[in-house]
Amino acid sequence: MMRFDEALMFTSMTPDRPLAIAMSNHNQSVYTAPGIVRHYQQLKQLQPAEQVILERFRDTLPQLKMLDIGVGGGRTTQHFARLAQEYVGIDYSAAMIAACQRRFPHAALSVSLEIGDARTLTRFADNHFDFILFSFNGLDYVSHGDRQQILQTIHRVSKPGGYFYFSSHNLQGIASTFDYRQQLRLNPLNTYVNLVMTTLLWLCNPTLSHQKLSTAEYAIVRDESHNFRLQTYYIRPTAQLQQLEPYFTDTEVYAWQTGRRLTADELTTNTDLWLYYLCRVK
Ligand SMILES: C[S@@+](CC[C@H](N)C(=O)[O-])C[C@H]1O[C@@H](n2cnc3c(N)ncnc32)[C@H](O)[C@@H]1O
Repeated sequence: MMRFDEALMFTSMTPDRPLAIAMSNHNQSVYTAPGIVRHYQQLKQLQPAEQVILERFRDTLPQLKMLDIGVGGGRTTQHFARLAQEYVGIDYSAAMIAACQRRFPHAALSVSLEIGDARTLTRFADNHFDFILFSFNGLDYVSHGDRQQILQTIHRVSKPGGYFYFSSHNLQGIASTFDYRQQLRLNPLNTYVNLVMTTLLWLCNPTLSHQKLSTAEYAIVRDESHNFRLQTYYIRPTAQLQQLEPYFTDTEVYAWQTGRRLTADELTTNTDLWLYYLCRVK
């Protein structure tokens, strides 16, 4: 029997459905673990690329209905909820929502924190939200098929011309970590640390290799986050733009660590571990 946590790599649109469901379910259960919930509950700072977007929308947020998907422990709630006309934070982890509600017990009437799954969003009417955020790579913890469904669903509940802002892991940022030759540094300690990481990645992802990752459009990787417990979707930035194309337009890409907007040429060479995407709803 195939293990549900076996690493996968897809270059086509034909994922194994049971394995894909298992990926989404497995990650959902990780996000209910008490230690992981506590971790997200104490996070406070916006990431630089989020700060850039907050400043860009600061003056218009009071007119916008905002949905914060995968709100976790409320890191973004404290920055956005007090500005938006309406703020709804959802997460498919009941434990995350409980922690978030404990963190904001006196939230205003226009702030709502609820259990909800981005794959369905059944509670929300069509064309309702002006601004949807799915921060800190929350979109990367469902299977490829579920990811397509989420993009379609976000399109459904968004107003045409509205905004969707999210981040996603960059396949170009992890491919080199699978290559032993690229781990050598002048400082022997750095070389040692890099080689340990490469070895752990190989052990956790026996079906992946640097060669495969160099040609794939996307891959599911057990990376080091939360001690290799999560299965994480990594995608090439140009493939991400294609994936958004049916539902969104005018996509801008930002480096998460600096908030700098990338040029079109940089998309094929950028090796940041993850990137933020701002797009308009068609
Ligand atoms: C990396 S955490 C980020 C939490 C929070 N946004 C932050 O930045 O601190 C990802 C969050 O997305 C949530 N998530 C992942 N897939 C989801 C889905 N399909 N529907 C709702 N929440 C989801 C997880 O439960 C988790 O809380």
